[in-house]
Amino acid sequence: MEKLFASANIGRYKTANSIAMAPMTRSRAVNNMATPLIAEYYAQRASAGLIITEGVAPHADGLGYARIPGIYTLQQMQAWQAVADAIHAKGGLAFMQLMHTGRIGHIENLPEGAQLVGPSSLAAHAKIYIDGKGLVDMPQPLGMSVSKIHESIAAYAQAAQFAIDAGFDGVELHAASGYLPNQFLATNANMRTDDYGGSFENRSRYVLEMVQAVCNTIGGDRVGIKFSPGMAFNDIHINDSAIIYEHLLQQLNHIPLAYLHVVHNEQHINQPGGFEPVLAFRNWYNGTLLVGGGLTANSGEAMLQQGLADMAVYGNLFIANPNLPQRFKQNLPLAEANKSTFYTPGAHGFTDYE
Ligand SMILES: Cc1cc2nc3c(=O)[nH]c(=O)nc-3n(C[C@H](O)[C@H](O)[C@H](O)COP(=O)(O)O)c2cc1C
Repeated sequence: MEKLFASANIGRYKTANSIAMAPMTRSRAVNNMATPLIAEYYAQRASAGLIITEGVAPHADGLGYARIPGIYTLQQMQAWQAVADAIHAKGGLAFMQLMHTGRIGHIENLPEGAQLVGPSSLAAHAKIYIDGKGLVDMPQPLGMSVSKIHESIAAYAQAAQFAIDAGFDGVELHAASGYLPNQFLATNANMRTDDYGGSFENRSRYVLEMVQAVCNTIGGDRVGIKFSPGMAFNDIHINDSAIIYEHLLQQLNHIPLAYLHVVHNEQHINQPGGFEPVLAFRNWYNGTLLVGGGLTANSGEAMLQQGLADMAVYGNLFIANPNLPQRFKQNLPLAEANKSTFYTPGAHGFTDYE
């Protein structure tokens, strides 16, 4: 466990250990606001070397799921202050994940006046949950105009500033799992014929402009980004995956970031044009690399020992084991997360794990 308990360099910070808590949507944010219960949940997990929060919307259009939080109003920013304070009071370090759901969502989950948007007017072939209705088909999004693109990029920059104002140590930009930035990369979601679609360079443009805008606002040493190559979740397909990710990482090498976060996915190597994300990203990217996805204490330690990652990221295990680093260190038994309470409102299955 030597490497898991060594400090890692995350931009301007040194972490207490190399065990990160994965970003996880928990749908407890009634009215899209952080609450005291959410502060308690994160404070319980503050012994992680780095907490990456659940996805938080930088714009009203990005609130596609029920009960997820936002950080695009002053009131929302102020509600997050108590969360950052609670984490810091326990000695933790926290980056807020900024997640714009794009075409993933439903108008009935969005606040009044917001729109379901995407790179093109193409519905995701997937279902979405609506309170009181259950799972329904995702509707067709509105293809974004160039001014809407610019508005959303400005919203990321403003949200990053709000995250810092609220007391967070940095932000992670969610460019994985089929949400808006990932939709721009995808050959099945982006049919644009302007500068933001077509070639791999053009499909990368949204992500790179958004990263640059956020770095210009809060400094790259407080900015991370997450990718999930080969993940088909939320109806995403990229038919030139190796080419576009190599291009993205080469460009990101010129914008010093706090870290890049990649989801481990061995299956991608067997997909047409696929590759093994961890090995490839280590090779293409010069900076700090966080890796997660199905890790155990042993596999995380092995990955760090082999130099494949700089921090090991744990999701499910942190839901059910708030003091995960201590359990790893003392080889204590691990509890299993209850999937039926992943996204239900209230304390049960959220703050009541011991
Ligand atoms: C309940 C739940 C919610 C999640 N929500 C998010 C999210 O908001 N943003 C994100 O980047 N990943 C999200 N993920 C994916 C995790 O960050 C992580 O990549 C995944 O759980 C794999 O790690 P694990 O096997 O250690 O759980 C979520 C996962 C779970 C289980």
